[in-house]
Amino acid sequence: MYNLILFGPPGSGKGTQSEKLVEKYGLVHLSTGDLLRAEINKKTPLGIEAKKLIDKGQLVPDEMVVGIIDNRLEENKEALGFLFDGFPRTVSQAISLDKLLEYRKMAILSVIALDVEDDVLVKRILNRGAISGRSDDLDEEVVRKRFSVYHDSTEPVAAYYRNKNNLTSIQGEGTIEQTFDAICKQIDAAIKERDNSLF
Ligand code: AP5
Ligand code: MG
Repeated sequence: MYNLILFGPPGSGKGTQSEKLVEKYGLVHLSTGDLLRAEINKKTPLGIEAKKLIDKGQLVPDEMVVGIIDNRLEENKEALGFLFDGFPRTVSQAISLDKLLEYRKMAILSVIALDVEDDVLVKRILNRGAISGRSDDLDEEVVRKRFSVYHDSTEPVAAYYRNKNNLTSIQGEGTIEQTFDAICKQIDAAIKERDNSLF
C-alpha cells in the first residue's frame, strides 16, 4: 500500500492529474473540495455551513475536513492506497493526518507539489468558471482570495513535508500529459526506493 498527497495552489491541476493517477495506480481519490461540494449539493447541515466559507474563498474549519477524511479512510479499509487532493491545507490538518495514518499503521510515500505561476492559475480558473458551475470560480476577487489563503495558510504545509524529506516539486505549466509523466516518474522512483529499503 502507498499513499500520496497532491499539493498545489488552486487551479494547479490537482483534480485533473488525480483522475489520471487513480486510474493508473488504483488508488482511492480523496478530494476534500469534491467531498465538500457533494455535501453542498445534498444540502446537508455541513454542506450549508461549508458553502458560506467556500463562496468567500475561505477555508472550512480543520475539524470539518479531518472528520470527512477520517470517515473515508474507515469506509475504504480494503483500499490499495489513497490519493489526497487538496488536503492537508493547513499545518494543523497535516498533523491530524499523521495521527489518522499512524493509528491505521499507514504512511505517506510521497508529497508531490505542482508549481504554477499565479497569473496562469487565475486564467485557468476563470476559464473553467464559465463551464464548471463552481460558485468560487466566477468572481476574480474570490479567486484572488483563494490564492492569498493558499500563500498564508497552505504554503507552510509544504515546509512541513520538506522537513520530513518527502516533498518533490514538479513544474505544472506544461501540458497535462507532460505533467502526468513527470508525476509518474516521481511516484515510480519513490515506490522503487521504498521497496529497496524493505530488503
Ligand atoms: P478545491 O476544490 O480543492 O479547490 P482548489 O484547491 O482551489 O483547486 P481547484 O480544484 O480549483 O484546482 P485544481 O488544482 O484541482 O486544478 P484542476 O485540475 O481543477 O477547494 C475548494 C474550496 O473548498 C476551498 O477554497 C476551501 O474553501 C474548501 N476546501 C477544500 N479542501 C479544504 C481543506 N482541506 N481545508 C479547508 N477547506 C477546504 O485544473 C484547473 C483548470 O485548469 C481546469 O479547467 C483544467 O482543465 C485546467 N488545467 C489543468 N491542468 C492544465 C494544464 N497542464 N494546462 C492547461 N490547463 C490545465
Ligand atoms: Mg480540484
